[in-house]
Amino acid sequence: MEDKILKIKETALADIENAKNSKELEDVKNKYLSRQSELNTMKKGLKDIEPALRPKIGALTNEVFKLLESEIDKKHQNFYKSELNEKLQSEKIDVTLDGTFNPFGKVHPLSSTINEIVEIFEHLGFSIIENKYSPEVEVEKYNFDLLNVPKEHPARDVQDTYYCYGADNIVLRSHTSNAQVRQMLNSAPPVKIISPGRVYRNESVSARKNNFFHQVEGLYVDKGVTFAHLKGVLNEFIRQYFGANRPTRFRNSFFPFTEPSAEIDVQCIVCQGKGCSTCSGTGWLEILGSGMVDPNVLKDAGIDPDVYSGFAFGMGVERLAMLKYAIDDIRLFFNNDERFLKQF
Ligand code: PHE
Repeated sequence: MEDKILKIKETALADIENAKNSKELEDVKNKYLSRQSELNTMKKGLKDIEPALRPKIGALTNEVFKLLESEIDKKHQNFYKSELNEKLQSEKIDVTLDGTFNPFGKVHPLSSTINEIVEIFEHLGFSIIENKYSPEVEVEKYNFDLLNVPKEHPARDVQDTYYCYGADNIVLRSHTSNAQVRQMLNSAPPVKIISPGRVYRNESVSARKNNFFHQVEGLYVDKGVTFAHLKGVLNEFIRQYFGANRPTRFRNSFFPFTEPSAEIDVQCIVCQGKGCSTCSGTGWLEILGSGMVDPNVLKDAGIDPDVYSGFAFGMGVERLAMLKYAIDDIRLFFNNDERFLKQF
């Protein structure tokens, strides 16, 4: 019995000596000091041995147990210190290093252009209308019929307008003018609103054209509104947006929903009016269509054209941004190239 205990002591001390880290030491501890260990089993078996031998064997088992415990403890302290040091070395944090810089996002140039346009018209007394009055997925009725665009009009041609597959009266709106119709049906005059949004046309994409772009629609209907009001408001917009010295011109035009109609051109910023590829050699870029709301459109919206009159306009946001910042390719707005976006 005694020999057996001394033998355990020897191998246990050797195992402690050989443990290379705290994990191994833990295994040694389990092997010799746990409840199921040989030593503990012997302690429990003391009652079965000869009474005369019990005190001696009992004392020896305890002594070995304590010795092993204290040896393991000592070694454990050493491991703890060196392992902690190692960890501190490897996980060292240099608080003097520069932090990582998380750049802030910026407002997209199209958004800031829309904001700028909206602000100018708000100062001229226009209110911005809610999105529910200008959906991008629209029925033909609001995109065409009620705007006096007859069924056979070329603007409806599938070449230009995106039709919804399987529902031939649903389109992606080709202009923001649907907002005019919905607004007039929704509220009685006076109406003085603007409505910015995205529009879609089936164009082949180039430096000058994209198959979706943005417009800001405007509508003013009241008693006694004349073409002079239209000119006054739009000239004031141009003066505020481009400054006083930008050459612009009103040009006679045609839209089914306005009569008379006019377009506004702004001198090309890329060539200063000399003629280049951006303005297809004309020296001018069209920025908006406008006109006096056609009496048929008022009538269809339940407004008496003998009492009320109005003007409307729709301006191209990309064009306005290009002309202000001398951007010669519309696709730059949609590429999400940081080198471009960062400049605004
Ligand atoms: N909807 C026309 C277009 O997209 C612009 C316009 C709006 C013209 C309002 C007249 C009045 O070209």
